[in-house]
Amino acid sequence: MKILTLALIGAAAWLTVGCANPERSRDLGNPAIPGPVLAQQACSMCHGVTGVATSPNFPNLAGQTEGYVVAQLTEFRSHSREDPAGFEYMWGIARRLTDTQIKDLAAYYAKQVPAHQTPEGDPARIDAGHALFTTGAPTRGIPACSSCHGDHGQGLAAFPRLAGQHSDYVVKQLRVFQRTEGRPDGPAMKAVAHGLTAEDMANAASFVQSM
Ligand code: HEC
Ligand code: HEC
Repeated sequence: MKILTLALIGAAAWLTVGCANPERSRDLGNPAIPGPVLAQQACSMCHGVTGVATSPNFPNLAGQTEGYVVAQLTEFRSHSREDPAGFEYMWGIARRLTDTQIKDLAAYYAKQVPAHQTPEGDPARIDAGHALFTTGAPTRGIPACSSCHGDHGQGLAAFPRLAGQHSDYVVKQLRVFQRTEGRPDGPAMKAVAHGLTAEDMANAASFVQSM
């Protein structure tokens, strides 16, 4: 009898887990769902299954540095990253993620193959963006983007990967850094973005997308 009861409890527990189906769940409020499952079942709607987003409205996450993704998700969760699209899309999504889920999501994206964009757009723009990226504009006090983001735009730790990122998103974020306080880790970029013209932004964005 005792054994039967135990067996029933066991089966009930198994069934409960079975129903929640942790391998397929997109429940962003359940701490038991592993980060990679969330990435593939929920985040994929906008960012793509492997973090390559087909729509330029959504940033690519594939190959993004781990430390940077942990920081951004933590800042969406605490509402300290408050640029409008972040507020609109990511606050609700990050609200109940646990530290472990955030760490595992970041590790998942860091090991995906980064987006390879076909160089499209104005070649003159891409060339001008290349120059800005690798040498900056010393006479205007603008440092080379590569000095922080890496020679190949690959990023490192808190410096995000830019290579292959959607140009629309890059321009949008450069404006956020230049004009707002919406990104809490933004001071370094605010100093850089301060001197950028709209042309510079469009050029740099075309270049990084083509990298
Ligand atoms: C409904 C669409 C949508 C879903 C679903 C979504 N995101 Fe996002 N995400 C966005 C948008 C839009 C942005 C850009 C926000 C901005 O411009 O500030 C973004 C930004 C991000 C960023 C910052 C990227 C960067 O380069 O700074 C990270 C990290 C991120 N999302 C992770 C996730 C994770 C992890 C999930 C799933 C748990 C997820 N997102 C689900 C729309 C979405
Ligand atoms: C002094 C170091 C430094 C230099 C130089 C620099 N950046 Fe950054 N950049 C950063 C840091 C740090 C961040 C992350 C800020 C954050 O976490 O909010 C960043 C973030 C960004 C982002 C947002 C990425 C995303 O996924 O949301 C873009 C776009 C960007 N930089 C473009 C540039 C461009 C273009 C240049 C050259 C004109 C440049 N950066 C030069 C340090 C730098």
